[in-house]
Amino acid sequence: MSSELTIRVLEDTDLGGITQLDEKILGEYRPEVWEDRIAYYQRRDPEAPLVAIASGKLVGFMFGEVRSGEFGLEEPTGWIEVMGVDPEERGQAVGRQLAERILDHFRSKGATTVRTLVDEKADSIASFFAALGFEPAGLRPFVKAL
Ligand SMILES: CC(C)(COP(=O)(O)OP(=O)(O)OC[C@H]1O[C@@H](n2cnc3c(N)ncnc32)[C@H](O)[C@@H]1OP(=O)(O)O)[C@@H](O)C(=O)NCCC(=O)NCCS
Repeated sequence: MSSELTIRVLEDTDLGGITQLDEKILGEYRPEVWEDRIAYYQRRDPEAPLVAIASGKLVGFMFGEVRSGEFGLEEPTGWIEVMGVDPEERGQAVGRQLAERILDHFRSKGATTVRTLVDEKADSIASFFAALGFEPAGLRPFVKAL
């Protein structure tokens, strides 16, 4: 990355940048999905959802929140739920800086643990979390088609 990276809290005006980045990653243009998600995360905890900006361009995002009393987990737990880094900007610590900042925020909200879920086929995402110190958890997902 040629210019400095800024990590800041998500703003309403980031909708376009996030929609574009999501389209670049997943190949689908989904502005209504991101409008809903942005509203959801801002309502839950406006300080938690983060974006990464380089040369005025949105190059990454990480959304999550602190919750407790779910899945038999009573302790306040930070959950990282949605993230993405521009494929052209990967491998330059954008994801790590987003994670470090969201983890600081989770700590400030009283969380003592951070959790996420990774599809077993998503090796690169699992490697990313392993590099950040995440370990396999003793929580098993169950699923049933409806
Ligand atoms: C996973 C992802 C966020 C990583 O972002 P990134 O900016 O490239 O990651 P960083 O450069 O900050 O890497 C941090 C650490 O993770 C490791 N890492 C990151 N991607 C990796 C990969 N593909 N394979 C192995 N290790 C990896 C790095 O080596 C680094 O380790 P180090 O700090 O010990 O050197 C990014 O690849 C991404 O957005 N993937 C797609 C996510 C997605 O599909 N989102 C939609 C569903 S929510």
